[in-house]
Amino acid sequence: MKNCNAAIIGLGGFGKIISAAVKESKKVRLIAGCDINPDKLEKFKEETGIEKVYDSIEKLLSDPAIDLVIIATLPSNHYDLGKLALKSGKHAFFEKPGALTPQHMAELIELSESKNLKTSIDFVMRRNPLYFILKEISELNFFGLPERAALENYAHDDSLPPEHWFWDYEKSGGIWIEHGVHFFDIVNWLMGKPKKAWGEKIPRETLGFVDRVLGTAYHENGAVISYYHGFTKPEAFENTRFFLIFEKAYTELEGWIPVKLTIDAMVTPEIEKFLMGDLLLKARSFLPGVDVALETKLLNNWNDEKTFIGRGKEYRATARIKFTYQLTVDRWEVYRACVRQGIEDLAAAIKNEKYLPDVTLYDAKNALEVAFMMEGREIG
Ligand SMILES: NC(=O)c1ccc[n+]([C@@H]2O[C@H](COP(=O)([O-])OP(=O)(O)OC[C@H]3O[C@@H](n4cnc5c(N)ncnc54)[C@H](O)[C@@H]3O)[C@@H](O)[C@H]2O)c1
Repeated sequence: MKNCNAAIIGLGGFGKIISAAVKESKKVRLIAGCDINPDKLEKFKEETGIEKVYDSIEKLLSDPAIDLVIIATLPSNHYDLGKLALKSGKHAFFEKPGALTPQHMAELIELSESKNLKTSIDFVMRRNPLYFILKEISELNFFGLPERAALENYAHDDSLPPEHWFWDYEKSGGIWIEHGVHFFDIVNWLMGKPKKAWGEKIPRETLGFVDRVLGTAYHENGAVISYYHGFTKPEAFENTRFFLIFEKAYTELEGWIPVKLTIDAMVTPEIEKFLMGDLLLKARSFLPGVDVALETKLLNNWNDEKTFIGRGKEYRATARIKFTYQLTVDRWEVYRACVRQGIEDLAAAIKNEKYLPDVTLYDAKNALEVAFMMEGREIG
């Protein structure tokens, strides 16, 4: 297969972002769109210049020119549409959550494997160079054990009127499933699945639907993670922070699609050199089209190595330095680049350039399992 021909099912708000992202790809060719709403089909044609549109998935799936379908409808449809696509022999890229239950996700995995089809899911943060930096420093164990992480997500709801499907559990699965899975996946990636977790749902006083959730997860390595999501702000005033604290470093990411990472750390010359050299170089080439800049600030200098004690453990450091990594393009460009990279990575697996995509439906199932723990539901 020379090129990978893709079609998007679901041409709503996010379908539009996906089409803009894929249109710029040199590895995946967007050739069709599908929506049950005829207005969305007209808009898609106008915006993309692509004439091939379908008003039902059945019609789209009978098109032999399409190799890959991108499922971007509302969450309650992902499983059914995914099953149809896989049964008809198409590879599939799922918008999150991909299914509303881990059991349904397991069925999608089984079906894709039995038909030797490739699948992935749009966990965009996995593509972000700043989360990649956190992954590298976690794996290299430079700063000791992770002690704590905390997500503070003050998200916008000014585009979510009370009748929007987002508030309807039957359609979205609720905040833990619809949105929480992004962050469960990131933490699973950084330190594995939690051994236990539980959460609370806080309904809006006036309307009764849940607009805030708060949860805690305990991990094998001793880390305790808090997750808070509140869909309560206007877009112009939203604010997302993700803190990951190690024995010898405080790290903080800013933004739902983060563009800035600070690492305030106790370092030795070797670690300092790595953070300013090899790690920066790797991060700069992690997401095509998105560069990373670094600034440092010396907070303390102990010239000769000094010994410190924390939690009864001794370690040595020569300096405390604040490293600030910043992406050099705006968050919308980063967002599109992350979506595009996920789809291109799946296309590489479809073209047998690699066996598995970086993000698999097993990751989607693991994230759904943590969401179920937060909901207090049996995983089954
Ligand atoms: N990965 C991310 O960062 C990210 C961000 C936002 C949204 N999303 C996900 O994208 C998906 C879509 O969200 P949205 O905000 O675009 O929703 P939306 O309501 O704006 O769009 C959904 C579209 O799907 C169409 N649709 C519904 N049923 C269909 C069917 N059977 N066949 C074809 N089309 C159908 C609707 O007509 C609508 O146009 C959701 O799963 C959401 O969680 C992902």
